[in-house]
Amino acid sequence: MNKNKFYVTTPIYYVNAKPHLGTLYSTLLADVTARWNKLQGKKVFFLTGTDEHGQKVAERAAELGVTPQAMADSQVPHFQEAWKKYELEYDKFIRTTDGYHKKNVIEWIEKLQDQGDIYKSHYSGWYCVPDERFVTIASEEVEKDESGNYLCPQCGRLLTEMSEESYFFRLSAYQDQLVKFYEEHPNFITPKERANEVISFVKSGLEDLSISRKTVSWGIPFPGDPKHTVYVWGDALNNYVSAIKGERDFWWPADLHIIGKDIIRFHAVYWPAFLMASGLELPKKLLVHGYILVDEQKMSKSIGNVVDPVKLADWYGVEQVRYYLVRQMSVNQDGNFSLKDLEGKISSDLANNLGNLLNRTITLALNNGLETVSPVEIMEADGVVLHEKCEEAFRSYWDGMNHYRYHLALTDLFKFVSEVNVYFHAQKPWVVAKENKELFEEIISSVCHSLYSVAIMLWPVMPKKMEELLRCIGHELELGANYDEVLRKNLWNKTFVLKKSKESLFPKPESRLEKIEEKPAEKEIGPEEIAINDFAKVELLVGTIVSCDPVEGSDKLYKLSVDLGKRGIRTIFAGVAKLLKPEELLKKQGIFVGNLKPRKMMGDVSHGMMLFAKDGDGNFQMTTVAGPVDNGARLG
Ligand code: MSP
Repeated sequence: MNKNKFYVTTPIYYVNAKPHLGTLYSTLLADVTARWNKLQGKKVFFLTGTDEHGQKVAERAAELGVTPQAMADSQVPHFQEAWKKYELEYDKFIRTTDGYHKKNVIEWIEKLQDQGDIYKSHYSGWYCVPDERFVTIASEEVEKDESGNYLCPQCGRLLTEMSEESYFFRLSAYQDQLVKFYEEHPNFITPKERANEVISFVKSGLEDLSISRKTVSWGIPFPGDPKHTVYVWGDALNNYVSAIKGERDFWWPADLHIIGKDIIRFHAVYWPAFLMASGLELPKKLLVHGYILVDEQKMSKSIGNVVDPVKLADWYGVEQVRYYLVRQMSVNQDGNFSLKDLEGKISSDLANNLGNLLNRTITLALNNGLETVSPVEIMEADGVVLHEKCEEAFRSYWDGMNHYRYHLALTDLFKFVSEVNVYFHAQKPWVVAKENKELFEEIISSVCHSLYSVAIMLWPVMPKKMEELLRCIGHELELGANYDEVLRKNLWNKTFVLKKSKESLFPKPESRLEKIEEKPAEKEIGPEEIAINDFAKVELLVGTIVSCDPVEGSDKLYKLSVDLGKRGIRTIFAGVAKLLKPEELLKKQGIFVGNLKPRKMMGDVSHGMMLFAKDGDGNFQMTTVAGPVDNGARLG
């Protein structure tokens, strides 16, 4: 039965952190998708919320000296306010501490117990608290840090050893059913490339899943054994069903779960198995997006501060930031966020390309006494071509949006806006206005029809701005109308009543880049100040690493031969063997302290020191020069 409905969800966010660019991105994609479906006349349910139980949240609350419930209560408004600011119009905000959700989870566990899908045993192994997941050392690619501690293969942070009594869900019993499901639904996971990792994980053999925690008390008490709590992912995933419990028959299955790539296994393996066990249909699709990197790095606290979503919205405007995020990030990959790009896109796409077109058209028409623009009966050849391009623009936009390639949809749409600009300039309406009133009206009408279609297509991304654009040409968006059909038919039979907007739709952004660069560094505790002649005592030289060899008896050291130009080729030891591979250093130019007293190391002598910097994840990065310089060049 076609219910003409669309149920879309976001991950529910842990309450140990405030909303940031990453969580904003997931929620924004859901809002854009919800609105896109509303435009097509569908009934839409958009769910988001917070994941409040579990060890990570409990530990953070303990650090802050508050109860987990109090911490959750104080964090939830931050999410709700940020989402409101960004015009993210969810239909429901679920909290896993809500009574109706807890009840649903308990009923689910009881059903699983009744049908023999749960048994009691002992978990002894490793756990990643930040990801709240069990890690199997034997079957996953687990690496160790310098001191030999295991690191989480997903997030790279330290694993915790765990040994406790636990209830297990018979996940292994669902392996064949899962594989069959993936085979029968090759489009279940978008983008497709992400499906392979899931299928090979399942095919490699599923172990039963620990579904309770005895040492974590912040959670839903396990039915029949309240010394245990329900494992936080067993609790959290069920939110998608709890939220629509009363109207489950209508909304379920979810049409789209939007998730980040870090939580694919939970959604593509555990969640379908949980649903199979519950006897419920499986969701129709998972949209898995990549990570937002900031200036090519993972977001760190200091950069994170600059890209606080609330601050960004205040600086550049909510909908400009919405546009940038959807336009810039290719959903299927990690994408880079930069303020420079953001400012560039607002200027070029929004202010110049679209905003100016609207302003110039309206100003020109009104200055020539044309306020009400009537439809044209017989169009000139150039107008006919533009009309066809408008139809094509909709088709490719529709295709991009319906296949969740939002960035491509927007790129194509702005190509069309450029073409409307080309048409406008080629027609020279400012000349035609004086000579041929009829043709002038036709040109203005063609531009207005194009703008009308563009505004509707862009509405899911920039709702208020596009409603304003429509008002400037005498139209209004009517939700409930089937715009899919309107845009597909592309009838250029509308009348436009032009009105100048009080403010320009997309003002040129004031650049913040310099202000940020000038920002004084945060006061940090560090070594005392030195005078310039103290610094001059240190000789920093550029040199090329010509060989890099491991040192017998040391797992930390490399023995480097470094070409320091006039200073000759020197032996210098560097303690990065555990962190960098020789090929990451070989033939590269690095920075060396040239006048350090020679030091004995492992029976040899080191004649200098190579400089490295630690990144936000604790990895070493070598220091270098931005372009090739002569070996032996002194820095200063
Ligand atoms: N609570 C779980 C989800 C449970 S869903 C039943 C969780 N929460 S989270 O707060 O860590 O947020 C996870 C989501 O935030 C990720 O899946 C991803 O969608 C988003 N992002 C977090 N950092 C991100 C980036 N830097 N870039 C893009 N999105 C990322 O996991």
